[in-house]
Amino acid sequence: MSDMSATKQLAGDMNSPAPQHSEIPLGTSTDNNVSSTNNNMSTWAMSNLQKLNVTELYTQQRQSLRPWLDFFNTNQFKPPANIKAGARRLVFNVEHFQTNYFIVIIILSIYCIITTPALLFILLAMGAGCYLVSLKNHESPLTIMNHQIAISQQYLAVFCLCVPLLLMVGAGSAIFWILGASVFVIFLHALFHQTPNQEAFGVQMEEMAPSSDYILEFKIDVFKTLKIVGITTGVLTAIGLGAYYIHRRTQSSKRVILRDEVRNILRPFQLTEEQLRRVMANLNTEMTNGLKSDDTENLDLAMFPTYVHHGPSGQESGEYLVVDLGGSNFRVSHVSIEGRNRMRLNNKIFLIPHSLLLGEGEKLFDYIAECLQRFIDDNKLSLLKSANYKFDLAFTFSFPCKQTSLREATLVSWTKGFSCTSVVGNDVVLMLQQAIDRRKGLKIQVVALVNDTVGTLMACSSIYRDCKAGVILGTGTNACYFENLDNVPKWTGVRDNIHKQVIISTEWGALGRHGCLDFIRTDIDRELDESSLTPHQQVFEKMISALYLGEIVRLIIVDLVQRSILFPGRMQKSPSIRPDYNIFLILRGSFYAKHVADIENDTTEDLSITTTILTSIGIHDPSYDDCYIIREVCKTVSLRAAKLAAAAVAVLINRLNMSSVTVAIDGTLFRHHQQFKHNLTRTLGRLVPRTHRLVLSEDGSSKGSALVAAVDRRLKTAPMTYDKTNLPS
Ligand code: BGC
Repeated sequence: MSDMSATKQLAGDMNSPAPQHSEIPLGTSTDNNVSSTNNNMSTWAMSNLQKLNVTELYTQQRQSLRPWLDFFNTNQFKPPANIKAGARRLVFNVEHFQTNYFIVIIILSIYCIITTPALLFILLAMGAGCYLVSLKNHESPLTIMNHQIAISQQYLAVFCLCVPLLLMVGAGSAIFWILGASVFVIFLHALFHQTPNQEAFGVQMEEMAPSSDYILEFKIDVFKTLKIVGITTGVLTAIGLGAYYIHRRTQSSKRVILRDEVRNILRPFQLTEEQLRRVMANLNTEMTNGLKSDDTENLDLAMFPTYVHHGPSGQESGEYLVVDLGGSNFRVSHVSIEGRNRMRLNNKIFLIPHSLLLGEGEKLFDYIAECLQRFIDDNKLSLLKSANYKFDLAFTFSFPCKQTSLREATLVSWTKGFSCTSVVGNDVVLMLQQAIDRRKGLKIQVVALVNDTVGTLMACSSIYRDCKAGVILGTGTNACYFENLDNVPKWTGVRDNIHKQVIISTEWGALGRHGCLDFIRTDIDRELDESSLTPHQQVFEKMISALYLGEIVRLIIVDLVQRSILFPGRMQKSPSIRPDYNIFLILRGSFYAKHVADIENDTTEDLSITTTILTSIGIHDPSYDDCYIIREVCKTVSLRAAKLAAAAVAVLINRLNMSSVTVAIDGTLFRHHQQFKHNLTRTLGRLVPRTHRLVLSEDGSSKGSALVAAVDRRLKTAPMTYDKTNLPS
């Protein structure tokens, strides 16, 4: 309504002896003498409802629909002058825009229903049921035992049948949502929308004598409207509360029982801050011990010096090949460094056949050389090169290696499920070089061996000057950091003004090898360790890394099945599903860290994501209780891993002792498992008060390794003098 017409109408209203009732619909044409009837609302409502047929009701409501332009006219939105004016405006608008508000409620309800497919489905089914009832009654009335059932009773029966289903699919929450959203929207609109009529009524109410008929009728209409709104809201709230209460009761009672049953099994996995601080103290001691001696037999941590003494300065350049071997795949990359740390990367992932992981070592290196050849050919990298050109290759080899220079590294032991023969104890740089040289025409020299943590650190320190530590939280776990050589008694290499520091690869995954983590290890940890390829090794890694998280969860599930807490009775009752169950229950490694992450993040009401995952691994039709318990298990195991990782990162930050430090992190757990990352960050915040920043290192193990080779090349061509910027403060 334009201002003009509003003013005209206002003038008409003010001059007219009787109000325009069509503007105030609920006490309207059918009820003109309402003020003379007794004021009992229910009597009024019932009698009117009986009189009205649907068409009349619809026509009346249509007439009272206010123009949407007026409804949404933002020029009319103004805060009320005071509480009294606000209350008056609220009352007026609720009545004035009642039909518009009704439509808003319908739109919100439709939105809520179509975004809850299960609810939509049941409502459709209910509609279809009512339609069938009406069809059936059209043909002949329904009679049971000579008793004719009224159609309204039949509708009621359909409704009653659907109520439990509606509750199950969350109708309670939906009603609450609709109620909350409607009240919120309507309240705000009614409070802030300044309708000319209303302001005029406000003036009238203040100026005119209280005995005026007009004011009296207006007050009666407002009173009626308030009553209707009050009663409707009350009834809806009661239904909503009831539905919600029943819904919560069924849910929460399950929760309490389940927690009681599973708590004892999960308790040993729940670490206190005190335990974490003890882990920190033990890790710190083992790190210090590891820097003193190379006695890897008796020490937990190898603390390998990596022969990388400097971070990138921004003046590095050139092209490099990188082979990144550390998980079940390996990656070949071509990295171009174009100065000022600008890098271009082109890479390809090659699958490693499982037989190679456990077979003859020489075959593994031959396969790597073959893939390198394919990569160079496919990308035509040799095209513009002279006949004598040799590519420089950085070898990212993510296993514990004792280095004696940047290009000499003896493998101490395999981890992460690798177990190739004749490699442990040998120089892996030499083995790769020999495999390359065996392929005629492949012109590559291996110039650096780099642990993935070192690559991660280098890639990030090209961006953040205060980045002095690199961490991998993926298939395996490890960390490296810049250490002053003064703190490394076992260092036998050069010590001068240029070599004042070195990156140490801690190999912290091995912590606990001599028992310092026994106070937090559970029976499940021991079981997993005993059945692994590397018993008594990588104890810490086996509690944290992605390769083992799924297996820990699987072993707990197996334990719960054996105690008949999970899938009770199913194993005996359904022989048809036993083979699948057996595969899951018997096969080591059949439950992945990705499953843990997805189940932990399952916030669906019916835990449908968990159901889908369990079904995909052979556990068909798990009950809600089963899914709920398994989600609790996943949460607990993942939280423990994140807390332990946080404790370890905290030790690094404390050792670096800088006013602010950036830690570069890579690995699937940190990159893709949001809850893990969240728990890690939160716990770390509690454990170290120092300013720190955790940064995801993008393609760190490839780019960073190329940078190691590039820094080495730069230093050879232009030996540096003392570089202050790379020292920890
Ligand atoms: C290896 C480390 C490696 C880490 C992350 C561990 O199993 O021992 O050398 O850095 O995994 O890949």
